[in-house]
Amino acid sequence: MKALIVYYSMSGNTEYAAGRIADRLGADLLRLEPEKAYPDSGIRKFLWGGKSAVMAEEPRLKPYQFDAEAYDTVIFGFPVWAGNITPPIRTFISENEMGAARYAAFACQGGSGAGKAFGKLQACLGHDLVKTLVLIDPKDKPDPAKDRQIDAFCNALA
Ligand SMILES: Cc1cc2nc3c(=O)[nH]c(=O)nc-3n(C[C@H](O)[C@H](O)[C@H](O)COP(=O)(O)O)c2cc1C
Repeated sequence: MKALIVYYSMSGNTEYAAGRIADRLGADLLRLEPEKAYPDSGIRKFLWGGKSAVMAEEPRLKPYQFDAEAYDTVIFGFPVWAGNITPPIRTFISENEMGAARYAAFACQGGSGAGKAFGKLQACLGHDLVKTLVLIDPKDKPDPAKDRQIDAFCNALA
């Protein structure tokens, strides 16, 4: 199995989980970055990011390499924004022919909304997710139980 983790992270929680999953699965990492970074502090962080998510925007991304043929598994990782997937994930899906045999996803959140966001992701992708994982701020609120959840997610995909 060759897996790719495609993720966006504003403040490091999703990046933390992506790194652990990559270690466990020997997966490659592709971090998406918008050309114009979202504000990452104060009320503007929630207003801009929240509006962008609700409006289902597709912000332009910094250049990246993606070879769809190289992977049989693509795992998406994102922070839940306003009960939705984060916009850079939408851009990536729009820009690429998604040919992988299977898709999975993990979401980081502070409270709730991941279930709805996974539904939006499936609608964008046009494919079901074979496995999902929800984590509550795994970097900001570290907990060995969250690391075990990540490992169980990896075991299910391995
Ligand atoms: C614009 C914005 C909207 C958010 N909306 C939600 C939400 O709807 N539900 C939730 O539980 N957390 C929400 N959060 C919190 C993040 O999803 C959460 O802290 C996540 O772990 C951050 O991941 P990151 O560090 O990879 O950016 C929101 C955060 C931001 C910045």
